[in-house]
Amino acid sequence: MTILEKVGGFKVINMKEFESLENLWMPFSANRAFKAKPRLMNEAKGVHYKKVNGTLVLDGTSGLWCCNAGHNHPKIVQAIQSQAGKLDYAPSFQMGHPLGFKAAEKLLSFSPSGDFQYVFFTNSGSESVDTALKIALGYQQHRGKKDKKILVGRERAYHGVGFGGISVGGLPLNKKHFSLLNNVDHVVTTHNLEKNAFSRGEPEWGSELADDLYRIIEKYGADRIAAFITEPLAGSTGVLIPPKGYLQKIREICTEHDILLIFDEVITGFGRLGTPFAAQYFDVVPDMIVCAKGLTSGTVPMGAVIVKKEIYDAYQDGDPKVIDLFHGYTYSAHPLAAAALIATLEVYSDEGLFDQAAQMAPYWEDALHSLNELDNVVDIRNLGFVGGIEMSMRNGKIGERGYDVFENAFHEENVLLRFTGDIIALSPPLIAEKHHVDQIIDSLRKIIPLH
Ligand SMILES: Cc1ncc(COP(=O)(O)O)c(C=O)c1O
Repeated sequence: MTILEKVGGFKVINMKEFESLENLWMPFSANRAFKAKPRLMNEAKGVHYKKVNGTLVLDGTSGLWCCNAGHNHPKIVQAIQSQAGKLDYAPSFQMGHPLGFKAAEKLLSFSPSGDFQYVFFTNSGSESVDTALKIALGYQQHRGKKDKKILVGRERAYHGVGFGGISVGGLPLNKKHFSLLNNVDHVVTTHNLEKNAFSRGEPEWGSELADDLYRIIEKYGADRIAAFITEPLAGSTGVLIPPKGYLQKIREICTEHDILLIFDEVITGFGRLGTPFAAQYFDVVPDMIVCAKGLTSGTVPMGAVIVKKEIYDAYQDGDPKVIDLFHGYTYSAHPLAAAALIATLEVYSDEGLFDQAAQMAPYWEDALHSLNELDNVVDIRNLGFVGGIEMSMRNGKIGERGYDVFENAFHEENVLLRFTGDIIALSPPLIAEKHHVDQIIDSLRKIIPLH
């Protein structure tokens, strides 16, 4: 069967380009199921994708939590196009180009405190996580805390797919078959359906779970712990909202015990909660911020680690002609990514997109919770412009219902969702309007009980 027959009648696409889907090994995908019944998108604009047959699909997930400014924003497209014609690439080791420095400065203007004065660029969230972990370990050595080598994460956390990220992450399937870093431990998850199901916004119960960090401190001694990394709000692992006061407590414990606090803001950065970072939303300032995705609104791969001056300064203790951090990527601060970053952050500010998301949040919350009584729904959670709908497992198989709802939404309702197991995750572009929210919710009201 050709791909044309599989997707059922192309009107728009040139078939010569799509004779086979076989050669691409798709990431985090059920490759055989996809190839038997593909979901292909060919164009995008604003809050919509266009399927290869020309049908519009409402983007309920900003791509993969990244296209916060909506798709193909003309100012961002223009910036990338003109940069491509001016400087395609410049070496990033021992060399630079002005736009990289400008991009760092621009990004710092979104940071939660003047203490953040340095940016290390990468190409993804995973690379940013591993970079931050390395910077933390090196920092402790530079300041003479030789035993501070333990990294602490949280059960159920997702920190990308590097060996560092899967080690501090808390998802067993992502670790299966792979060797992991030594010197890693995890605090307990904050997710608790019994106590917190159907909470609106931050759950009331659970700030005391932060005390689990004391258990780890007692186990090893604070003088052996380098850093604690956490997603302020976990997205990919099923939209887990921090209990009220949890992050504040974590900050206090880290400060008290001289442990670096790293916020992984790959999903929460750039307006998801109506603020530049979750740090501003929760009024909790970490020591490093990891970001990616919305940094360029998904247009060009880029990630970053935003670092406090004190941390950068600790590395500047040797001979000035010797490399201070033995780490970096060929494409760190790539010119196209730098151009995309600057244009994207300008669009966020000029168009007030973070405020727009903040204003949408109460409507979003009401709309989501209007699904509370649906069959198969065991929890609904929300914060800012993020929503999670947890469904019960079907036939003892995790993810079966989630997959069917996701597939049905795409093929029949023309709405793009995400699913993790049986949890539907939603994060529309920040430009989405009330009628788009209504469309997503109406589709779910129709589909969820069917499965
Ligand atoms: C919190 C968090 N960290 C890291 C990553 C990894 O980012 P990437 O897929 O760009 O490597 C993700 C991706 O979803 C994420 O949600």
